[in-house]
Amino acid sequence: MKRIGVLTSGGDAPGMNAAIRAVVRGAVYNDMQVYGIFDGYEGLMNGEIEEFSRSSVSDIIHRGGTILKSSRSPKFKTPEGIRQAAAQAAKFGLEGIVVIGGDGSFRGSVNLLRAGIATIGVPGTIDNDLGYTDRTIGFDTAVNTVVSLLGNIRDTTVAHGCATVVEVMGRNCGDIALRAGLASGAESILIPEVPYDIDKICERMKAGKKRGKNHSIIMKAEGVSIPTEELAHLLEARTGIKTRTVIPAYIQRGGSPTATDRLLASRLGYKAVELLRDDVRGVAVGIHGDDVIVTDIEEAINIKNKPDLKNIELASILSI
Ligand code: ADP
Ligand code: F6P
Repeated sequence: MKRIGVLTSGGDAPGMNAAIRAVVRGAVYNDMQVYGIFDGYEGLMNGEIEEFSRSSVSDIIHRGGTILKSSRSPKFKTPEGIRQAAAQAAKFGLEGIVVIGGDGSFRGSVNLLRAGIATIGVPGTIDNDLGYTDRTIGFDTAVNTVVSLLGNIRDTTVAHGCATVVEVMGRNCGDIALRAGLASGAESILIPEVPYDIDKICERMKAGKKRGKNHSIIMKAEGVSIPTEELAHLLEARTGIKTRTVIPAYIQRGGSPTATDRLLASRLGYKAVELLRDDVRGVAVGIHGDDVIVTDIEEAINIKNKPDLKNIELASILSI
């Protein structure tokens, strides 16, 4: 292929800019023309598309968010939306499109593929909820952001001898909660993939207090069924320990990407270009250990992410 586009879609993730840079610079290096598509699938349907050069992506490798902007587009899910998107791609002569996003964006790319546009998926989401790849771009930064916030939360929790329930993002995936919780020494970690036991959390809080430990951090993934305020009230009522809540929300989606995310984004973005250059389509790129992998995109979407149960057990052992 000689002319390709790149877009970012769904929730933005730190490292998306590094991936865009890798796609654009990789295309220029391989003598391909490359177009930036703004505002995700919305911009594709509306023809918000412009040619990029190597300097279009200068000074962005370290920036959070996405210079291409992102969107969630209900219209793109309709047959009319797909027709419109395919027509715009044809108008700009785009033979292939690199889609940087999460599982929803990957599902959308399959529809584009069926409409005759070659697509390659690059996993960009803080959630780490795509099972075919060890890591998604943005996850490491989000974990580090939460760990840093947890330091602040712990200071004030200790000062007041209370407990704090911290709700983190991840949609239906508990990976941010699990890794950030383990790295921060949280006393309890609740993730949607594993049923929680209120009695056990209360026991841990009370046992800690009895030993003279005057604080408790309960890390809860947003996908866990009980609302965070309700959980805090329940814990306070059962233990007698004052229990606060903190929900960092979008703070954990922004910020400069870590070196790990920049490296992942650079490697996966460049691989996506190589695949389009070689006329490969309908695949997603990912990472296993230190190896870049290529998986059929429909297979990739259907591989469920599994929580690392060893880490749940370890967190519980180490926070006694
Ligand atoms: P993410 O890519 O981060 O999972 P979303 O789930 O919001 O984010 O998906 C981004 C966009 O991808 C949606 O707004 C929609 O346009 C498209 N999309 C999502 N799910 C589907 C689907 N099942 N079929 C077709 N397009 C989809
Ligand atoms: O997929 C990224 C994510 O931040 C999830 O962790 C969260 O559930 C969701 O997006 C929030 O969506 P919105 O940006 O529509 O509020």
